[in-house]
Amino acid sequence: MTSEHPTSSAITRTTGDLEPLFLRAVRGDPVETTPIWIMRQAGRYLPEYRRVREKVDFLTLCRTPELAVEVTLQPIRRYGFDAAILFSDILTPLEPMGLEVAFNPGPVIARPVGSAEDIRALKRPDPARDLGFVLETVRTLRRELPPTVALIGFAGAPFTMAAYMVEGRGSKDFSRLKSLMYREPVLFHSLMEKLVNVVSDYLAAQIEAGAQAVQLFDTWAGLLSPRDYAENVLPHVRRVVERVSTEGVPFILYGNGTGGLLELMDETGADVLGLDWRVTIGDARRRLGRYRPLQGNLDPAVLLAPVPVIQGRAREILEEAGPDTPHVFNLGHGITPDVPVEAVAELVRFVHEEGRRLKAGLGAEPDPAATGDTA
Ligand code: CP3
Repeated sequence: MTSEHPTSSAITRTTGDLEPLFLRAVRGDPVETTPIWIMRQAGRYLPEYRRVREKVDFLTLCRTPELAVEVTLQPIRRYGFDAAILFSDILTPLEPMGLEVAFNPGPVIARPVGSAEDIRALKRPDPARDLGFVLETVRTLRRELPPTVALIGFAGAPFTMAAYMVEGRGSKDFSRLKSLMYREPVLFHSLMEKLVNVVSDYLAAQIEAGAQAVQLFDTWAGLLSPRDYAENVLPHVRRVVERVSTEGVPFILYGNGTGGLLELMDETGADVLGLDWRVTIGDARRRLGRYRPLQGNLDPAVLLAPVPVIQGRAREILEEAGPDTPHVFNLGHGITPDVPVEAVAELVRFVHEEGRRLKAGLGAEPDPAATGDTA
């Protein structure tokens, strides 16, 4: 399942011990403990990230491979996560598609997409030519990361990218996007089809450059009813999965607020489903089967709680996954800038330690300090 990239993948494939724990876990191979990485693990909660950002703006950081590599590695060095995620943004491909994007700190698109003409004018970037800085970041990371740490590439899912392109910025309800979807379905689908091509090309290029897994972020898919997800999102995500899965690396589909959509997300063919905290791992397991690989799903706000509460909530997730569900520990959404750095260190340590006990078949002692306050 690893890419044919001739760098350290040769080492990981021939020396089993160095095969990243993350990759073994998502394939359902036996593992000694539960792997962990967290969404937005490189970011403003880290003082070393803020030091880099004092000197350069976010877009320059994304476009300068040397700096993007440095900030990707920061949380790996500090915490020993089991996977690194390429430092970039889901909106990076918008500029070569012909849109002007600024970050402030949230994304703002100068001329949002609305008409048939706007959609026709969107270009299909050539990743090697137009997004070469991302591919160079991936290649360098693959050389610099320890062979035990997996490198994850990513892209925004078509619907979530369309949300920003049509709305022009973040929104509570994305009503411009929904209005396009309901009133101009042909236009909506033509935009989604363009994005399927852009996202598939981009993920395939990241894999070619050395990404060992990819994650598709569908942050806003949870805004849709199951019926609208089935009609307007599922077929497009399925096409991305089909096109990218030919590359043979694990495909993670993350959704936020998508507890009502799990069976439909399952139908996309993604190898791993990333969950937010509004659905339990136990529920997902009952609905999708105990061997369905899952990722998640601690509420990021739990990292603001005292250590015993963090441990209690993390233990519940590990116990629900049990010893047989292939599981990668993560937050249910990105980490927020106000999280204390020590909380993350404690989470990583605890997940590895408790995961090891559970995998060895030793149950955990209930911790009254952590469980007493649950409903
Ligand atoms: O996870 C990682 O460490 C990798 C890097 C990464 C970033 N954004 C860096 C970033 C990833 C994977 C993303 C994904 C992303 N970007 C998503 C999907 C995941 C999610 O959080 O829902 C979305 C919707 C975006 C769009 C985006 N980019 C928003 C809404 C914002 C502002 C958010 C905020 O926290 O203020 C960004 C900016 C952004 N992307 C930052 C980082 C580290 C903050 C920029 C800064 O340093 O000022």
